[in-house]
Amino acid sequence: MLQLSLIACVDKKLGIGKGNDLIYTYKEDMEHFIKTTRGHIVIMGSETYLSLKRPLKDRLNIVLTSGNNKEVNERRKIDGKYLTDKTDILFVNSVEEVLRFIAKPRQKDRKAFVIGGESIYTQFLLFASELILTEVDDVRPADKYFPEFNWLKFEVVEERSLIENVTIKIYERKVDRHVETTIEELSASGVT
Ligand SMILES: NC(=O)c1ccc[n+]([C@@H]2O[C@H](COP(=O)([O-])OP(=O)(O)OC[C@H]3O[C@@H](n4cnc5c(N)ncnc54)[C@H](OP(=O)(O)O)[C@@H]3O)[C@@H](O)[C@H]2O)c1
Repeated sequence: MLQLSLIACVDKKLGIGKGNDLIYTYKEDMEHFIKTTRGHIVIMGSETYLSLKRPLKDRLNIVLTSGNNKEVNERRKIDGKYLTDKTDILFVNSVEEVLRFIAKPRQKDRKAFVIGGESIYTQFLLFASELILTEVDDVRPADKYFPEFNWLKFEVVEERSLIENVTIKIYERKVDRHVETTIEELSASGVT
């Protein structure tokens, strides 16, 4: 079965961002994020992409947009640096396109991580087999949130303290036939 993880840093109200920026940036959490995602596939919305200085290195960056690479990068106001010929960045126009891409047999050695923001977490939650949450025991003003999820459908399989008041928890989805069936159907849909 396809493994798809959502990875995020959340506060006690599931706040994740404000003004298209993060509300928490812990060095230790960044290290955890890099260690977890390096060598794999990261999936993000165009707003999160625009909030990054550059695509994340050593990972395939998949950026969701209703536009195209040129339009997104024009909003970024960079001078064509990432517009063409980059094999580590892929612009796509739908969730289905992402799911089909990561279900391809040739991607089987890479894990797929949804890295935000709010709209992307919300759309991919249904397909997530795992949630990797850095939980901050605090609340800050936010205008973007991680989606509420049904705790009963997940179990905590790992929990460790990162620094004081910050805990990493890994939630694994209990077997869900709907997710399995949807992914199997997409994989079998013939798109390679
Ligand atoms: N705490 C964390 O772990 C964390 C992680 C990541 C991000 N964040 C925060 O989250 C916030 C950004 O979240 P957001 O919800 O505003 O933006 P986002 O999810 O990063 O990006 C939204 C954009 O993605 C594109 N998009 C969304 N769904 C699509 C679909 N089905 N098909 C095609 N394109 C689609 C659209 O781009 P177009 O407008 O180009 O069409 C949309 O405007 C920021 O504050 C950021 O700092 C927090």
